[in-house]
Amino acid sequence: MDEDDSQKVGRDVSLVRRRPLSPLERISQLLPQESLGPEVEQLRDCNDDRTEESLAVTEDSNTLVASDQICESDTPIKEITMPQEEITHLSNGRTVADCSDVQSQVGAGTPSHMAEPLPKSLPRETMIEFGELLVAEFRKKGRVEFRKMFQLQEGVRLQSSWGTINHDDMAGRPSGRIMRTTHWAPILIRRPSLEDYVLLMKRGPAIAYPKDASMMLTMMDVVEGDCVLESGSGSGAMSLFLSRAVGSKGTVLSVEVREDHLGRSVKNYKRWRLSWARRRGGEEWPDNVHFHQADLSSASSLLAGRGFHSVALDLISPQLVLPTVVPHLHPGAVCAVYLANITQVVDLLDGIRCSSLPLLCERIIEVPVRDWLVAPARQKDGDFCTRKSPLSNEDKKDLCGVEEKGESANDARPFGSVPYISRPHPEQLSHTAFLVKLRKYVQ
Ligand SMILES: C[S@@+](CC[C@H](N)C(=O)[O-])C[C@H]1O[C@@H](n2cnc3c(N)ncnc32)[C@H](O)[C@@H]1O
Repeated sequence: MDEDDSQKVGRDVSLVRRRPLSPLERISQLLPQESLGPEVEQLRDCNDDRTEESLAVTEDSNTLVASDQICESDTPIKEITMPQEEITHLSNGRTVADCSDVQSQVGAGTPSHMAEPLPKSLPRETMIEFGELLVAEFRKKGRVEFRKMFQLQEGVRLQSSWGTINHDDMAGRPSGRIMRTTHWAPILIRRPSLEDYVLLMKRGPAIAYPKDASMMLTMMDVVEGDCVLESGSGSGAMSLFLSRAVGSKGTVLSVEVREDHLGRSVKNYKRWRLSWARRRGGEEWPDNVHFHQADLSSASSLLAGRGFHSVALDLISPQLVLPTVVPHLHPGAVCAVYLANITQVVDLLDGIRCSSLPLLCERIIEVPVRDWLVAPARQKDGDFCTRKSPLSNEDKKDLCGVEEKGESANDARPFGSVPYISRPHPEQLSHTAFLVKLRKYVQ
C-alpha cells in the first residue's frame, strides 16, 4: 500500500503477527540457493520444522535439487524483492498463524451442522497425482505476480523468482493448497480450470478469449447433444469450450486449413483430456471433437449429410466460407463470428449482402470485462491501515457523552475499521474481438 493510499493513518506494530527469521535463514536467503551445502539445508529444515510447529501449519521442507521442469507459459513475473513481512500475509489479509487459529476453532465452537468434516478434495476429484497439470500462483497486493502451468513430475522442482517447491511435495495432496517456497513465499497450488488452461496452454494462433467464447456459446444457444461446426481450430481453445457445452452426446466438427495449427489444437485438446482423466480418477472428458484439415470455403463434401445446430467462425474472412456453410445450418440456427477488426465486420456484412445469403445480422457486440482491485489497505511495513474518524476523541465525548476506548480498542480491528483500496485494476484486458450474431432465416 502506498503512502497516498494509506490515507496517512497511524500504525500499530503489535497487531502484525510476523514469523521471526532465524539468523541462518536471513543469511542463507541472501546466497544463491544452489551454493548451500547439505548441512545448511539440514539446519534450515530443522528450523522450518520448529517454526511450523509453532505456527501449527503443516508444510513440507524443501530440498534443493537442480532440475528442469515442463511449463507452458507464465504471466510476466515482475522481478521484485519481497520484504519478509509481505509474505507472512495471505491474500485475505490474515497471517498463516491466523489461519491455523481458524482451523482449530472449527469443531470447537462451531454449530454442529458445520462441524462435519468436508472431504479433502472436490467431490469426484482425486488427490493430486504425478502427470497431471497444475497451476502455481502467487498474489501480492491483489495482483497476480506469478502464474505458471506445469505438469507434475517426480523429482522435479517448481522454479520461481520467489524460490522453489519440490513437485514430490505436491503429490498426494488436495488441490487449492498454499505451499511455501524455499524463500517462504506462499504459493497457491491448484488444478487449472478450463479458462486457466486455454490462457496458459501453448498457442499457435491467437485464441478466442474465454469471455468471448462464453458469449459465443450463449449466442449460439448450445446445449448438450448439439452438433456444432467450428472453424478454424487455431489453438483449440474454442474447440474445448464447445466440447464441454455439447457434452458426450454431442459432436463438434472443427475445420482448420493449416496443418501446423491443426496439430497444435489436437495436442492441446488431448493434453486437457489426459489431465482431466487423471484428476477424475479415470473418468473421461468427452471425446467429441473431430478435427479435419481443410479449407472450409471448399469443404462442401465434408459437410454433406450433416445438419448443424450452430456454427462458430473465427477466421480472417468469414464471408468467403459462409456460402459453403449456410446450406448445412438448420433454419433458425445461429452462426457466431469472432472478428478482431471492425473493418472485417463491414466486409462480412457486405459479403452477406452481395452473396444474398439468408442470414440476418442480429447483434454486433464487444464483451468488456473490467477488473477491480479490492483489498485491505496496508502500510509499507505490511501492517493494516486504520480508518480515521474526522472527529477527535474529545469531540466524540462532547457529542455522545461517551469516552472512546484507548489504543487497545483498535487491536481486534473490528469490522469496518480497515480502509480498502477499491478501484479499477490498473492492468486491464484491452480489446479482443467483435462478435457478430447471424441467424439463418427462411422465406
Ligand atoms: C485465430 S485462429 C482461431 C483460433 C481458435 N478459435 C482458438 O480459440 O484457438 C484462426 C484460424 O483459422 C484458420 N483459417 C483461416 N481461414 C480458414 C479457412 N478458409 N478454412 C479453415 N481454416 C481457416 C487459420 O489457419 C487459423 O488457424
